[in-house]
Amino acid sequence: MTIKSHIRTVPHYPHHGIMFRDITTLLKDPIGLRTTIQEIAKRYSNVEIDKVIGIESRGFIIGAPVAYQLGKGFVPIRKRNKLPAETIGRDYQLEYGSDRIEIHVDAIQPGERVLLVDDLIATGGTAEAAVGLIRDMGGEVVECCFVIDLPDVGGKARLENLGCPVFALCEFE
Ligand code: PRP
Ligand code: ADE
Repeated sequence: MTIKSHIRTVPHYPHHGIMFRDITTLLKDPIGLRTTIQEIAKRYSNVEIDKVIGIESRGFIIGAPVAYQLGKGFVPIRKRNKLPAETIGRDYQLEYGSDRIEIHVDAIQPGERVLLVDDLIATGGTAEAAVGLIRDMGGEVVECCFVIDLPDVGGKARLENLGCPVFALCEFE
């Protein structure tokens, strides 16, 4: 089974011109879900990592089981006003719009090594903001890991320019 073949493309969602890469078709397939989590966990099984951080909301679906598989804790980065305790946040631009993400101020200790997980990288705006939050707190981003990279949109190069390694299970043009 290939992970890419289980991802559905929905043209013109949520806006005209966007080719939406839909992971729900991958997630509903038991082999697809298991393979996705195992492939990511295998890559980091011998890497020194303190925490896995996932970005709301699709990043939670991938990040939490990866953390479980690696035997590490999971930290959510959430959209604005969702976290109950004290937070720091960053605004960012999306491929289609703008938003703000936040993290609890006590979620990471200085010097901790973090694996950042999301389902997809497009412009890299979301992940760049997440890397900024993690670094603001003194954390070190070991790698940013995605199920899907859209290389033509440039997010991977953007993160690499920040000194952040990027890995993705598959690419769509
Ligand atoms: C999607 C996706 C990434 C982000 C990628 O999330 O899950 O987080 O966009 O885009 P970028 O690289 O251009 O920043 P979205 O904000 O749509 O939220 P969702 O996961 O709740 O659907
Ligand atoms: N998030 C940003 N761009 C996306 C795309 N093309 N497909 C799915 N999620 C996205």
